[in-house]
Amino acid sequence: MLVPGKVRLMGEVEVSSSKNAILPILAASLLSDETKIIKNVPDIRDVTVITELIQYLGVKVDYRDRSLHFSGGAVRETPPYELVRLIRASFLVMGPLLAKKGSVRVSLPGGCAIGTRPIDLHLKGFEALGASINVTGGDVIAKANQLYGNHVYLDYPSVGATENIMMAASLAQGTTYIENAALEPEIVDLANFMNSMGARITGAGSNVIKIEGVEKLSSTDYSPIPDRIEAGTYMVAAAATAGDIIIKNIIPEHLKAVTAKLLESNAIVEENNGHIRVYRQQDIKPVYIKTQPYPGFPTDMQAQFMAYLSLARGSSVITESVFENRFMHVAELLRMGAKIKTEGRTAIIKGCRELTGARVRATDLRAGAALMIAGLTARGSTNIMNSEHIDRGYENIVAKLNGLGANIRRV
Ligand code: UD1
Repeated sequence: MLVPGKVRLMGEVEVSSSKNAILPILAASLLSDETKIIKNVPDIRDVTVITELIQYLGVKVDYRDRSLHFSGGAVRETPPYELVRLIRASFLVMGPLLAKKGSVRVSLPGGCAIGTRPIDLHLKGFEALGASINVTGGDVIAKANQLYGNHVYLDYPSVGATENIMMAASLAQGTTYIENAALEPEIVDLANFMNSMGARITGAGSNVIKIEGVEKLSSTDYSPIPDRIEAGTYMVAAAATAGDIIIKNIIPEHLKAVTAKLLESNAIVEENNGHIRVYRQQDIKPVYIKTQPYPGFPTDMQAQFMAYLSLARGSSVITESVFENRFMHVAELLRMGAKIKTEGRTAIIKGCRELTGARVRATDLRAGAALMIAGLTARGSTNIMNSEHIDRGYENIVAKLNGLGANIRRV
């Protein structure tokens, strides 16, 4: 992907539905045999992979008018490794399949032992609901003829574990309480989706979620929330390029931490009527950021902010406290002239006057987005290799940025 630099983004852009809301919603559709219609589904690779996985499990899938129509229930309980290895969120089918079929077998992602890339909290939750867990030959097998409601305390408010346990508990006998649950808006959206099928979930969005098990779930027709990370990425892109853009289909409430850091850094963020306008006229002020579970600063915005703060007047500090190894973009930003030093989970970013276009590699989805932002500001063109990572989570990103005045080409 070729990103010509020195662009000021101007105009309007519309955010798509949330990737991280839709993935668990698609998994939760396995909880019911009736027809489920999910509207405004973005055309992104992660959604395609989970949809193929659900289809493989035996559900009839039809995509029309940007809506996914699912009918019938799963007949298989082992998703294929070729799809599972492509996306970690495949684990989200475990809870629904366990609850619905009484058994599920899922491969661990290639080369990742449980210890290094843990799903221990998901499994502890299933066990608390009465499932037996076995790990053999790189597969996790969970079984239970009947799940029973229980108190599940999460040592850490894991997003995926909260979702998986919520889905498993929805068809359990009795009531489950997830304590120290994740608070992310995507959890609330999943609960709303499940309740629209007849689940009885209260407290989503707080740290105790109550799930009263029901016998079965029914049909629904549902539109997921807008993607707060996609929105945040365009907000940072506007600030980084000293542009002026209006972002539509956004829930400002979900972006408080991002907005606070943009304001602190001298960008202007104006909210009105569900739109957000972001522009910047003054130099970028350095800021301190620590990623945290919601409502803290999202780890999924860390890389984009690092690209932005590379241009600040002074030194910023970013501490990544959610994931162990999430500084892969640093090496690529250095290639563009950024001045960043890392020590453990902390990065010190010494602002520089400008970045220089270079040949760089998108190591993951958000790292790729950060490189696009860096490229838009740089002198010269930036050639981003492995840009397919970006398409995992950003719908039509090239067309959307070009609509704001960029001139990006896929090569
Ligand atoms: C979700 C998001 C991802 C985001 C992350 C944190 C989806 C599809 N993905 O990922 O974009 O970056 O939330 O906001 O929604 N952990 C354990 N044991 C577990 C589970 C997690 O130790 O059983 C650890 C992880 O290694 C990580 C931390 O908890 O260090 C956060 O993970 P988690 O909240 O589970 O993130 P995901 O659901 O994988």
